[in-house]
Amino acid sequence: MPSVRQLFLSHIAQTSDLSLGLEIDKAEGIYIYDIEGKKYFDLNSGISVSSLGHRHPYVIEAINKQLEKHLHTMVYGEHIQQSQVAFAKLLTDNLDDSLNSVYFFMSGTEVIEAAMKLSKRATERYAIIACRNAYHGSTQGAESLRSDHAYSQAFLPLVPGIKHITFNSEEELLHITEKTAAVIIEPVQAEAGVIVPTNNYLKKVRERCTEVGALMVLDEIQTGFGRTGFLFAYRKYGIVPDILCVGKAMGGGMPIGAMICDKKLMQAFTKSPVLGHITTFGGHPVSCAAGHGNLKALTELQIVDDVLDKEKLFRKLLVHPIIKEVRSSGLMMAVELTKRKYLKHVVAHTMELGAIVDFFLFNNRSFRLAPPLVISHDEIKKACELLLAACTFAEAKYTS
Ligand SMILES: Cc1ncc(COP(=O)(O)O)c(C=O)c1O
Repeated sequence: MPSVRQLFLSHIAQTSDLSLGLEIDKAEGIYIYDIEGKKYFDLNSGISVSSLGHRHPYVIEAINKQLEKHLHTMVYGEHIQQSQVAFAKLLTDNLDDSLNSVYFFMSGTEVIEAAMKLSKRATERYAIIACRNAYHGSTQGAESLRSDHAYSQAFLPLVPGIKHITFNSEEELLHITEKTAAVIIEPVQAEAGVIVPTNNYLKKVRERCTEVGALMVLDEIQTGFGRTGFLFAYRKYGIVPDILCVGKAMGGGMPIGAMICDKKLMQAFTKSPVLGHITTFGGHPVSCAAGHGNLKALTELQIVDDVLDKEKLFRKLLVHPIIKEVRSSGLMMAVELTKRKYLKHVVAHTMELGAIVDFFLFNNRSFRLAPPLVISHDEIKKACELLLAACTFAEAKYTS
């Protein structure tokens, strides 16, 4: 009889030869348990998904209630489904007035695709500006936004009309012109290794977009729902985008994403052509119920209020000879090591010691820390002890 691991390797698509291969039994709160009963601190939240920890009671209760009522009934936007409407209302109540209309999807990359289409349709322009070292998803349009052409070569031809600028470079804002349909940008560059905006950069992007009539599309798929210490990072950095893209932590562990903008802009999908964008499963009632429970917990339990204090504690504790710097925005953190060679040892040994951290797509000197926002101060202290022990282990590898 083949083991589950062997069946996994035979029948589940593999995206690299270096899979983490952790065989999951269950997950609760900030912990994941493998089939041997070993307990791990989840210091990644499934890449910024499980911000409330795993199986938060608000989310589980909301899912159970919805299960008693109905699952899927009809493609998105055709039937009036209470869980969708209630979630859209709660969500928009927590946003600025111009972000009042929600289009639900199942994943982040679909949200980006829709934002690209909506921008083209609404501005009647086709040029799109994205930032170097940004990741916006893996479907054709979103993937075309990737600046690493060595990677994209394998998937040519890409969507035309896309140019790249360097995040935080003010001079390069001049590439945003009257021909630009949209600037698609993250408030904090995630996969580049947590690069925070400096010198009011996002305000300057906002101003330039307004000046030339381009739409500012903010990808908050990783930063949204409290990750940076604000419910949404656009508030932290003092701007309001034309289109807000959210996903990941939005569903409390269930798949959901959304493109949010002003109703007038969203109507570009309603006519000429009618059904400008459609989806069968977007806004699935169970995901919407989970998302509602998730947002209710975040706001009612004031979970976001402590995030900046927790960030400070991490930063205070993560001091070690092989740690060069910690970059962070709330509990979205990159720990940069003095030498690249240490990285794989720190990540692997952290896992042996019972905590899960991860690599970034476009930074090979730093590891990612994005723990559930509900992690306690004591748990942060214990987690940091493990991380520092892993650093000492990696350092010793090269000094013995
Ligand atoms: C900033 C950002 N945008 C978009 C995406 C794509 O989201 P998804 O994987 O849900 O398609 C990701 C995923 O990592 C992301 O980090």
